[in-house]
Amino acid sequence: MINRVVWLFIPVFLMYALSASAKNDITRGEQLFRAKKCAVCHPSGENILSKDHALIGKAFETRYSTDNALIAVIRQGLKSSNASMPAFDKQRLSDEELADVVAYIRTLGKKDKAATKKS
Ligand code: HEC
Repeated sequence: MINRVVWLFIPVFLMYALSASAKNDITRGEQLFRAKKCAVCHPSGENILSKDHALIGKAFETRYSTDNALIAVIRQGLKSSNASMPAFDKQRLSDEELADVVAYIRTLGKKDKAATKKS
């Protein structure tokens, strides 16, 4: 009997733990976005140095439709105009921190934040 109760609670607990960590990722990503100075050049997801390379909008979403594409550009940096995006290697931003930053970037420009949290 006790066993059965334990087995019933495991999935409930896992679902709770997973949803809690997903929320934390975005919060941590937001803190890192400021701490690592992304926000200096990209306030509210804009791009003060290179207007066509904001982190919001249709063009951005099309260009970086997968998280891997987004991770790659942040790791490598970008110089497609007069301004350049510095590369962030693992010393500057660990894989875990980068995943959190990406989760946060995905919430930028979304009017309905509640809908974003679900994904
Ligand atoms: C010194 C200013 C600066 C900082 C700091 C900076 N960026 Fe950028 N970022 C840029 C510029 C400038 C570009 C566009 C480069 C170009 O025009 O080729 C860019 C481009 C990007 C792009 C690609 C956008 C696109 O449409 O192609 C992403 C994603 C990005 N930055 C994310 C970040 C993140 C995340 C951080 C922090 C970890 C960060 N940036 C820190 C200046 C900066």
